[in-house]
Amino acid sequence: MSDRYLELVNTSVGGAVAKRLGLPRPVPLRRDDPLPGPVLVVGGPEADPIALALVDAGQDVRRLGEERWGAVVLLLDVAAPSELGEVMLTAADPIRSLARGGRVVTVSRQVAGDPPTAAARSAVLGIMRSIAKELRGGATANGIVVADDVALAAPAVVGALQFLLSGRSAFVDGQPIRVSGPGMADATPPLAGRVAVVTGAARGIGAEIARTLHRNGARVVALDVPAAGEQLAAVANAVHGTALQLDITADDAAARLLAHLGRHGRLDIVVHNAGITRDKLLVNMTPDRWESVLAVNVSAPLRLTQALLDAQAFGPQPRVIGVASTSGIAGNRGQTNYAASKAAVIGMVQAWAPTLADLGGTINAVAPGFIETHMTAQMPRGTLELARRLSSLQQGGQPEDVAETVAFLASPAAGGINGEVIRVCGQNLVGA
Ligand code: NAI
Repeated sequence: MSDRYLELVNTSVGGAVAKRLGLPRPVPLRRDDPLPGPVLVVGGPEADPIALALVDAGQDVRRLGEERWGAVVLLLDVAAPSELGEVMLTAADPIRSLARGGRVVTVSRQVAGDPPTAAARSAVLGIMRSIAKELRGGATANGIVVADDVALAAPAVVGALQFLLSGRSAFVDGQPIRVSGPGMADATPPLAGRVAVVTGAARGIGAEIARTLHRNGARVVALDVPAAGEQLAAVANAVHGTALQLDITADDAAARLLAHLGRHGRLDIVVHNAGITRDKLLVNMTPDRWESVLAVNVSAPLRLTQALLDAQAFGPQPRVIGVASTSGIAGNRGQTNYAASKAAVIGMVQAWAPTLADLGGTINAVAPGFIETHMTAQMPRGTLELARRLSSLQQGGQPEDVAETVAFLASPAAGGINGEVIRVCGQNLVGA
C-alpha cells in the first residue's frame, strides 16, 4: 500500500506545511548503492586497519576535510567513559555534514572487562542509539560490537560494515550487530551454489526473501500452503526455483520437505518466514487463535529444524534464519499469542546457536517492525498511519528491507554472527 503522507511531505507545499506544523517529515530511503559521499573513519591509529579494509572492499575512504560525507565510521575501543569525548567531539562536525541517506556506524568491543571498560563499551550503545534518533534525511546509525578475540578488521566486521554502509540496510537503524567469530570474505555472488528453503514464500516478505536469495546466487525452494499455490508457482518460476505446496504445521511436513530436498541434493539455508496473526486482547482470546499462531510461528520451525538436524540434511556452513518481530521484543496490545510466538523464535535461535556453530554454521533471527505488506494493510486506517510514523525513519519498511538482512545473515561474511537478533524496524520507538 502506498504511503500517501510520505509522498505529500516530499512535495514543496506539503513539506513546507509539515515543517510549519512540526509534523513528521519522512524522506524516501536510499536503497541502492553507492554511498552519497566518501567514508570517514575516526578513532586514532587503531582505526587504520578498518579504513584499509574498507578501501580494499571498494569504499572511497578519505581523511578529514571533505564538505559532505556519505558515512562516518567511529572506532570506539575505549577503556573508560572519559575516553569517549575526544572521538565523539571530533565526529560532531562530519556528522553535521552527513549527506541524505548517509550512515554512521560505531565499532566497539563487547560489553565486558573491568567496570570502567564495561561502562565505556556500554556507553557506545547509548551514543549510537541517540545519534540514530538525531539523524534526519533517511540517514541511519548502527553499531558493530566485536568480541574481544576477533580482530577489528576481520571479514565478519568488514562484512557487517559493508552491509550497514549499503542501501541494503536502509531500514536497519539504531541496532547493534554483535560479531563473535571471524567470518569469511564473501564470494561473488555470495550464495552461489547454495540451496535455500523459504517458508511462506508466496507473497509479502517471503516472496521478497526468495527473490533476494536468488539474486545472491542461491537455488530456492519456495514453500507455502496449497491455497497459495498459484502465487507460489509464480514466485518459484521467477526465481528459477522449485515450489513446494506444504502446510508447515502438517504432521508429515518435515518428511515431505526432506523428500523434496532430494531433488536439489543439498541444503544450506532455511528461512522460517511463514507467520500468521490472530490478534485479540488476552481477555477475549480463543483457543483456536492461540494455538494456530503458536503452531505456525514457532512450533513448526522448531519441529522442521530438529528434523533437518536429525536427518543431517545440512551442508557445510548451514544458515538458519527465523523471522521474529518487534512485538516479540517489546510486546504489543492485542498480541499475547503473536508476541509469545515471536519471542519464542528468539529463544529458539539463542538455544540452537551452539549446535549450529558445531556444524560450522549459524542461526539468527530478524525482527521486522512495521513492514508494508498484506499483513499490515489489514490494520485499521488510523492505527496504520500511526504505526508508520512511530520510528526514527517515520515510515514503514519494505519487504526488501527484511529480505536484504536475511540475505546478509545467510552470507559467508555473516559467519561470525550467531544466536543474534537484528531488528529491521527503522528504530521503532516501541521497545528497546
Ligand atoms: P503475509 O501474510 O503477507 O505472508 C505470510 C505467508 O506465510 C503467506 O504466504 C501464507 O500463506 C504463509 N503461511 C501461513 N501459514 C502457513 C503454513 N501453515 N504453512 C506454510 N505457509 C504458511 O505476511 P508478511 O507480512 O509477509 O510476514 C512474513 C513474516 O514476517 C511473518 O512471520 C510475520 O509474522 C513477520 N513479520 C511481519 C511484519 C510486518 O509488518 N509485515 C512485522 C513483523 C514480523
